[in-house]
Amino acid sequence: MTDISPLRDFVTGMTDLAETSDGDENAMIAGTRDLLAKLVSRDDWLPEEFTRDGDTYRQYLLHCDPKQRFSVVSFVWGPGQTTPVHDHMVWGLIGMLRGAEIGQRFAPDGDGPMIAGVEETLEQGDIEVVSPTLGDIHKVSNALSDRASISIHVYGANIGAVSRHVFDPATGAPKEFISGYSNETVPNLWDLSGS
Ligand code: FE2
Repeated sequence: MTDISPLRDFVTGMTDLAETSDGDENAMIAGTRDLLAKLVSRDDWLPEEFTRDGDTYRQYLLHCDPKQRFSVVSFVWGPGQTTPVHDHMVWGLIGMLRGAEIGQRFAPDGDGPMIAGVEETLEQGDIEVVSPTLGDIHKVSNALSDRASISIHVYGANIGAVSRHVFDPATGAPKEFISGYSNETVPNLWDLSGS
């Protein structure tokens, strides 16, 4: 049985952080970075059912704060899979758990093609930040062509329910979407028999 105590400790730490930061974005990002770095420093706590890839990339909810101040999601990219260019509308951190992924930022440029940033590779243990104030639009791809890559994402809302946008990079035209989640059940953080 997988010992998910690192995830439980992360959720406990995030709950404390949400209380003490009182909604301050900079404090949430700084505190989440430390907690997430610890969480992705080992790869032995994520139950197998939240690591499965599929015909498109998967986003498995691991935990949502009851007050929806933050959510934790396992993103699984199969070989060669990629997201569309998209935004988040809230702060978010990406911690690389397994494999590697390529992130590329985009910025609108009127009605013309979006301005594309350089491609940056996230390796195991690396952390990236997105937010409406720090740059919120990007595209993410699996850097590996022969196996799945997994990253743990933390957002300042119940991200699966947030109305946000995908963009046509050729025109910058936005289209609204709500991502939802790939799973119907979440990990049982409170079965202490395995830890
Ligand atoms: Fe994203």
